[in-house]
Order: sequence, then C-alpha cells, then structure tokens
Amino acid sequence: MSGGGIRPWPIFLLALVGWTLFIVNVIILTGIDVKGKIYKVVLPKGDKKDFPYFEPPNPVDDIELPDELDQHPIVALTRDQLKKFERYKRAQPKSFAQVVERYRMKYGRHPPPKFDEWYKFAKKRNCVNFDDFDQIMDDLRPYWGIKPADIRAMVRAMDSDDARVSILRVRNHKVAQTIRPDSWRAGIFEKMLAVAAPLLPDIDIAMNFLDEPRVVATWEEVQSKLAAEKKGRVQHPETVNEFSKFDWDAEKKVDVDLGFFTYSGKPYMDVASKACPPESYARRPEIDVKHVESRYKDPVGGFIRNFNLSSDLCTVGPSIGHLHGFLFSSSTNIATQKLVPIFGECKVNVNNDILFPANKYYDLADARYAYNDEHDVPWHEKKSRMVWRGVTSGGVQNPDIYTRLQRHRFVALTNSSKLSEAEVTIMAALSEDNTSGEYAPTFFHPANYASTTMDVAFSEIVWCVPDCHFLDDKMAAKPGMDFKDTFKFKYLPDIDGHSFSGRWPAFLKSKSMGLKSTIFREWHDQRLFEWVHFAPMDNRFDDLYALLTYFTGLEKGVDGSDGAYVPRHDTEAKRIADRSREWATQVLRKDDVEIYMLRLLLEYARVLDDNRDKIGYSGDGSEVDAADKSKFGWRWRR
Ligand SMILES: *[C@@H]1O[C@H](CO)[C@@H](O)[C@H](O)[C@H]1NC(C)=O
Ligand SMILES: *[C@@H]1O[C@H](CO)[C@@H](O)[C@H](O)[C@H]1NC(C)=O
Ligand SMILES: *[C@@H]1O[C@H](CO)[C@@H](O)[C@H](O)[C@H]1NC(C)=O
Repeated sequence: MSGGGIRPWPIFLLALVGWTLFIVNVIILTGIDVKGKIYKVVLPKGDKKDFPYFEPPNPVDDIELPDELDQHPIVALTRDQLKKFERYKRAQPKSFAQVVERYRMKYGRHPPPKFDEWYKFAKKRNCVNFDDFDQIMDDLRPYWGIKPADIRAMVRAMDSDDARVSILRVRNHKVAQTIRPDSWRAGIFEKMLAVAAPLLPDIDIAMNFLDEPRVVATWEEVQSKLAAEKKGRVQHPETVNEFSKFDWDAEKKVDVDLGFFTYSGKPYMDVASKACPPESYARRPEIDVKHVESRYKDPVGGFIRNFNLSSDLCTVGPSIGHLHGFLFSSSTNIATQKLVPIFGECKVNVNNDILFPANKYYDLADARYAYNDEHDVPWHEKKSRMVWRGVTSGGVQNPDIYTRLQRHRFVALTNSSKLSEAEVTIMAALSEDNTSGEYAPTFFHPANYASTTMDVAFSEIVWCVPDCHFLDDKMAAKPGMDFKDTFKFKYLPDIDGHSFSGRWPAFLKSKSMGLKSTIFREWHDQRLFEWVHFAPMDNRFDDLYALLTYFTGLEKGVDGSDGAYVPRHDTEAKRIADRSREWATQVLRKDDVEIYMLRLLLEYARVLDDNRDKIGYSGDGSEVDAADKSKFGWRWRR
C-alpha cells in the first residue's frame, strides 16, 4: 500500500470544491437571488448623448423590403412602416439598467415601487418590449395633477349604482370582495388582478362595465393637470422601494360630484371637440379638410399613412362624426367631463379612461373571440376572399339612423346587388404588360368583384327600435358561419361594434390577414404597426376597393374592370399575415396581458399613495442585472 496510496489532502480539496459547486448550483437552480446592493442612481442630465442606446440605430438598411420597382403607394407605405418597426425592435432595452435609465429620461421620475420585481416578472415571461408602456403613462399622467386623497375620494364615491362600475379591491396582497361583481367583466378582471396582487398595496379600482368609454374631460382641464404633473416631477436621490402603509377601509366616503350624464343617442363630437386642442380641426372646422386629410391619408390612393392619426377625433372627427355609431348615436353613453379614474377596455383618443387589456384577451375560452390553431389552415389553402360576420351592434338602430352605423355601412358597401350603379376609384397598373410598375387612379365598377371576392353579412339582425322589420328588404342575416370558419379565408376585416371589436387579437394571431378600421384605442396599439401587421382601413371605407384589389389583384377583362388591371400582391398579404402571427406570439400573449396589468397597477397604486413623490425604485438597476448575469454566466460556462 505504501507509495501507491491516495493522499488525504487532495481528496479533501476535491471534496471542498465539489461541495462549493453543489451549493452554488443549488442556489442557481432554486433561484435564490444573489443579494446585491442597490446602487444609487446617477440622475440624468437631460442630454440624450448620455444615453447612446436611446436613439434607435438608423438607417435600417439590412431588412427585407418590398420590390423597389413596384410603385404602388402601398409598397412605399409598407417600406416606411417596416423600417419603423425594425427601429422599434432594435431600440428595446436589453438590461434592467437600461430600462430604468430610459424610464427616468422619458418620464422624469423614478420608476414606481417594486419596479425591479416587475422587471423580473416580465423577464421570466420572456418580455421582448420593456420600453413599450407609454400608454400607461399617458393615461395616468393627468392624475399626477390631482391630490392622492382626492383621487381616492372619487374612486370611493363611485361605489354607487349610478356610476356603472364594479369596484375591485386588493387587501393584504389578495383580491378581496368586489362590489357589483355581477358583470362578466369583473370576474375576468379579478383573475388578472390576482396575478398582480402579491406585489400591490391595498387599493380600490373602479372598472367600467359598460361597452362604451366614459371620461371626456375638456382640453383646458387636462392641460392644467398635465402642467401640474410636469412641474411636480422630482427624483429624490433616495426613495423607499415600498408603498406606504394605508388603511383604505378607515378612510371615510365623502360626497364627490362625479359629473356623470347620460349622452346616449347624441352626437359625440359635441362633447369630444371640447377635449381637443383649440387649433385642431375639431374646433376649427373652417380649416381646409384636404390639408387635414393629407396628414394621415395618402393623397393619391387614399390609403392610410398614419393609422394613429386616422382615429384621432380632433383630426378626423368632423369628417366621420356622422358615419360611426358611437359618434352619431351610441346605444349607451354615460359620460363625465370630470377627471374620474375609471379603468376601461377601450377609449377614443379624447377619453381619459385608464386602459387595461380587454377581458376577452385574458379569457381564452370564449370561442366567439379566441383563436384556436386547430381551426386554421395554411395560406395556400385559404380562399382568396374577404369574409366578415357579426351582429348588428354599433349604435341606435332605427330607420333614420341605421345608414350611419359603421357595420351597416360596411355590409351595404360590399353587397353586390346594391352596387349595380356604383363606381369607385382604385389604383390600376399603367402599362398593360406591367413592366413600368406605375399606377394611376382609375374608375371601377365593383359589383362583380364584390360578388366574387367579398362575403360580408350580419350573422344576426337584432336590437332595432322598435323592431328590425325595416331592414327586411335591405339586409339579410347569413347565419351558419362560426368564428372559426372565417379562418378559411385570407382577408379578415375588423369593424367596431358598440365599442372595440374583441376579435382583433385572434385575427392577428391567425394565418389570415387582418384589415382594421376603428376609432377606438386599446392597450396594445403602440406595439402594432400598420402595413407590417395588418392593413389599415379608413373609417369611411373609401379606400376599401383600392386596398383589396391591391392584394387580390384584378384581372383585365373581368366584368366591371373596364380594362383596368391590378397585379396581385398575394405574397405581400401572406407576409403581413406571417409577421402579425409571429409578433402576436411575442407581444399579445396572456403573459403580455399580465405584464401590462402589473405595471399599470404599480403605477396606479403609486399615484394614489400620499407619499407618491418619496416612494419608488431609485437604484440604477445594476444589482438586478448582476444577479441575472451570475445566473446566466454560470449556466453558460457549464
Ligand atoms: C407586376 O409587377 C409587379 C411589380 O413590378 C410584380 O410584383 C408582379 O409580380 C407583376 N405581376 C405580373 C402578373 O406580372
Ligand atoms: C343585399 O342587398 C339586397 C337588396 O338591397 C338585400 O335584399 C339583401 O338582403 C342584401 N344582402 C345582405 C347579405 O345583406
Ligand atoms: C398616437 O399619437 C399621439 C399623439 O401624437 C401619441 O401621444 C400616441 O403615443 C400615439 N399612439 C400610438 C399608439 O402610436
């Protein structure tokens, strides 16, 4: 044994190394955070040069862009939007330090308490767009101009049947008793809230349970609150990363005039215009409409160039006020001009409701709205037609008004038997052999094209005043096509009902291409890019035929074409469908709803906190990144 024996010292060393590795592994695998010091923040000097990553890389020239030779206006619009989308993606922060730095620079405040926890929550759910929550900030900003106690008093005062809201409560980090829980919306909201509740202080939330948005404060009122917010921005070097202890239930209910009034059946632009800037078209109808339109619409083909602006009522309101049910004569509208903090699923641009992801997008069990892969088919198996089914919602339906409702107008506009005399303008190729790639506006008789390419009808005709017989000879319901069957077709238009349409995320997730017209804003708007993820449509539908013929093409010699010819852009349509599907699986998931909700509720809870200027995350983010790196680095080395 002597000489060849194993010496004990190296064995001990090996064992020690092994033990250390084991412990480190356990820590990594069980996810115990490496505790790090929170470093104090370096306050931004307001100079963008200090934030080299802020300016998105420009130019974006290494992405696949549509054919240069094709001079159709949609090609140029697509090219611009593709670049914009690419810049958006490349500008997303890559670390928590960047997220907090960007936050302070954009909003002039520290992030809210538990922001580090939000980041970890989002990262775990594979968030790809950490800097895409401006909507939350925009919605809450005016409330920084109101004292926290006054905001709380309004929330509390909404505990009344007249307010038409459910009140949801967090107590002790759990969802507590909901007041007026009977709306289906409240049930789903509770589920979303339960995910965020562990990180929230005690709060009350007022949730609109009507379809239509509620709050429409005057421009002057909002401006004064925004000015107060701006003036009050502070970034104390050290803040507490906690919400204040506060007893909601001890605070007394006081009488507050919430200013609700019933506005059903009345022209909405009369109140909406008061929420618009004094120099806007909505308040100065004498401005030349052509000039106004040129800001969001392509002057030649009429295609939407700026989708956001195309639903800005201060810009388009006077042109579409009589062509949309919510604007002309809504079924239900209980509004207020006071800044009352109500959570809502959608709003028009002048509303001050606080947006949250619509309940439908969280409840994925509802077959009328949810997308199910099983029922979808590949692009080449889809029929090259545009298909729409829906109910007769949108506004008050009576013989005088129905022609003002967007769905009824859309159904009529695509009904070939009503189109025998109709003439529309499309963009047709200039040269017969299609070599020049040039197009020009051309008259077109769409009756035949509509009958072969469009299948648009109500699935049910209901809710008319006094009854629906006046529609008998005008439109017919075509039942028998379920939501899932619509995915057998390439082109799926989405049209507003009483408010937003809950089908939209399903269309984006599907292998079909969505066409969207809407006046409503939703939580996800900023992350979706027109022409990249969907084809935008004017709320007047005056671009419909030019738009659809671009994708489907129009053969020469077809009845009604009068010799016009439009080359097919089927590949472009498929690309839009593919891109929206791919993107939706990254940013419109149930996870994304939770990420948005948690961030929204942290911000909301802070605005309601009496110490809102002294609480927040004041670190520089490095301790979270260091913990991330140590996990990642170790795994990587193994
Ligand atoms: C017509 O031209 C466009 C653009 O140059 C091209 O994409 C398309 O495939 C052509 N169509 C036909 C039928 O040749
Ligand atoms: C199309 O219009 C005709 C005539 O106005 C009408 O009878 C028919 O029901 C309409 N079709 C649909 C699907 O609405
Ligand atoms: C729409 O435009 C407004 C005003 O310019 C802007 O504040 C908002 O962020 C834009 N929204 C989206 C989704 O781009």
